[in-house]
Amino acid sequence: MKTRITEMLGIEHPIIQGGMHFVGFAEMAAAVSNAGGLGIITGLTQGTPEKLAAEIARCRTMTDKPFGVNMTFLPSLTPPDYPGLFKVIIDGGVKVVETAGNNPAQWMPMLKEAGIKVIHKCTAVRHALKAESIGCDAVSVDGFECGGHPGEDDIPNFILLPRAADELTIPFVASGGMADARSLVAALAMGADGINMGTRFIATREAPVHENVKKAILAASELDTRLVMRPLRNTERVMNNPAVERLLAKEKALGANIKFEDIVEEVAGVYPKIMLNGDMDVGAWSCGMVAGLVYDIPTVQELIDRIMSEADSIIHKRLNGLYPA
Ligand SMILES: Cc1cc2nc3c(=O)[nH]c(=O)nc-3n(C[C@H](O)[C@H](O)[C@H](O)COP(=O)(O)O)c2cc1C
Repeated sequence: MKTRITEMLGIEHPIIQGGMHFVGFAEMAAAVSNAGGLGIITGLTQGTPEKLAAEIARCRTMTDKPFGVNMTFLPSLTPPDYPGLFKVIIDGGVKVVETAGNNPAQWMPMLKEAGIKVIHKCTAVRHALKAESIGCDAVSVDGFECGGHPGEDDIPNFILLPRAADELTIPFVASGGMADARSLVAALAMGADGINMGTRFIATREAPVHENVKKAILAASELDTRLVMRPLRNTERVMNNPAVERLLAKEKALGANIKFEDIVEEVAGVYPKIMLNGDMDVGAWSCGMVAGLVYDIPTVQELIDRIMSEADSIIHKRLNGLYPA
């Protein structure tokens, strides 16, 4: 399949693996890129420029296909060394950067100078238009269904994607709730040039996370995610568990007076314990509603091949077949 995204990124299939904290290691990114999609290393999981440079080099030993690096901009008391991280991305010859969390305008000149394609992930049409205006090459449009941070507008992809198609000139991929060939074909029908998946890629053989994480996604239904940190305007869709229920009880009790310090135990520093050690109930971890559409733990190659071959059959058999000969 050829779309503006496959052409722009030099990949075979219009499928991107979004940056994921403590999931987007070299193993994950390389598996997706080797299967013909675009894998993405999560920059902030590495934390320091030295470690990120090493992870990029490690990924290069695993794939000769293009892969990207995610750079998430978060409010933080001790911000990461963003200039240093961007420098190693450029020096490491990475050709695609996925930005998220805030406007990447400050970094655009150096990324463009290095010939890097910038895909900005955002949850609103106005933010997508802003990204287009500052020179981003593409956007990833993240609907309300998505795992992670859906923003505060709560617009699901059935509305958000056609709205994006109506407004944008640059290519965009549909993100949030994407699981299979049906997602891909629907996203293309709504004007997208491909899909970005997070949660679905965690439930694969190669995902470098504890088996408990994969099992939790497999066991979950579409009813099992919750929105946390809404009162802090930092909404995150997470898998429900006892820590999340505790967090939500605090939100209810403290109302508008809640501060980050009140929930630090449930959200700060929990990712390595969950993703690497499999302590599933230790805190809140991002997960999309799409968990309800995850029925197996295939290899990344099997997953991507299945999506592409079933998309072919949906388009050529099911949809074409709706027209009488
Ligand atoms: C466990 C997990 C961690 C994530 N971490 C990040 C992150 O660090 N930066 C980021 O931009 N997006 C992050 N995301 C969001 C994904 O890149 C992607 O946009 C989202 O998962 C898409 O929705 P889906 O889960 O329904 O596919 C994360 C998602 C998950 C599930």
